[in-house]
Amino acid sequence: MIIGVPKEIKPAENRVGMTPAGVLEMTKAGHTVYVQSGAGTGTDFYDEDYEKAGARILPTIEEVYAIADMIVKVKEPIEPEYKLIKENQLLFTYFHFASCEPLTKAMIEQKAICLAYETVETPDRKLPLLVPMSEVAGRMATQEGAKYLERFYGGRGLLLGGVPGVPPAKVLVIGGGVVGTQAAKMASGMGADVTIMDLNIDRLRYLDDVMPENVNTLVPNEMTIREAVKDFDVIIGAVLIPGAKAPKLITRDMLPTMKQGTVLVDVAIDQGGCFETSKPTTHQDPTYIIDDVIHYTVANMPGAVPFTSTLALTNATLPYALQLANKGWQKACNENSALKLGLNIVKGDVVYKGVSEAFDLPYVPVEEILNK
Ligand SMILES: NC(=O)c1ccc[n+]([C@@H]2O[C@H](COP(=O)([O-])OP(=O)(O)OC[C@H]3O[C@@H](n4cnc5c(N)ncnc54)[C@H](O)[C@@H]3O)[C@@H](O)[C@H]2O)c1
Repeated sequence: MIIGVPKEIKPAENRVGMTPAGVLEMTKAGHTVYVQSGAGTGTDFYDEDYEKAGARILPTIEEVYAIADMIVKVKEPIEPEYKLIKENQLLFTYFHFASCEPLTKAMIEQKAICLAYETVETPDRKLPLLVPMSEVAGRMATQEGAKYLERFYGGRGLLLGGVPGVPPAKVLVIGGGVVGTQAAKMASGMGADVTIMDLNIDRLRYLDDVMPENVNTLVPNEMTIREAVKDFDVIIGAVLIPGAKAPKLITRDMLPTMKQGTVLVDVAIDQGGCFETSKPTTHQDPTYIIDDVIHYTVANMPGAVPFTSTLALTNATLPYALQLANKGWQKACNENSALKLGLNIVKGDVVYKGVSEAFDLPYVPVEEILNK
């Protein structure tokens, strides 16, 4: 198969869909990989690295789209890319269709085969191509919380881990899933006094078993949250209700009860945020202050660490990309139910229920397409 790896053109996106190591695996399997010149520079991979791994370099994005049977990238195509996509071309990337009607309509029109990272789902209901980014965001959340506690940034002037004779900062993590667990792990490793809240008591039981002694668990409700916010120095929001907007767990009226310079890190901002006062920010201008409380609400946190994020993402995507290249998308999806669930739009038909419902578009069961 001919595989194309274009350079991401979404603003501030430095990740790349395939590393030189991925190119080597693809070429070993007999495929040809065309990489756009400069596609990996944001991640510190250069054209020579790709060439050494067996890739051919093309100077423009137009040439990459024109030659490839399968495009492997990171972010959803943006407007200038729409017209480059060919009928029957397989696109393997994040799409998040339900949040973008123009993208959905454009992919239907181009009659592409759109396999979305975010809906690839294993039989045990895990999302293997979303988890790596949650792991990055979770670990980063603590790092950012620690940074903005510094007085220079308006924080309380507190060192997260304290020092002998001086107590550490108190970190509250609301939501003990992938993001919350990684955030708590980092915070406890740095010596903070950590509490994790989650509605799922079985999850709290598990976390209580595996976390170090400086991590406590607590069941959240309005009263416990209202009391807790007065006392914690960093509060990390990491809840997820699949398919729904995040619930507002910290409300505007709680802010004046917090200590001056408390840092709120709302990782759930990509689902609307779990603090009432959260609004999305960017890496260029990541924070704002309301009532002396610092808000860090960057919607694409992993974008700040493209090297780590690219490796984490491609470690997870490459085995699936190889299956698609080796077998073709139809056979690969028929044989792997996780990949099958990744299909969202196929040659003009919407085959993912959530996408058809979001925009009131006709839904075609994916089996009808695969068995054609
Ligand atoms: N900003 C970013 O760059 C970025 C990156 C990755 C993930 N995210 C977001 O981070 C959030 C968490 O993702 P995840 O992968 O950890 O999800 P997850 O499903 O692994 O974990 C979510 C946890 O929240 C808990 N929960 C749900 N409602 C709750 C409530 N009211 N109170 C307390 N706990 C509650 C669930 O029981 C679950 O354990 C999501 O909104 C995700 O989209 C953001």
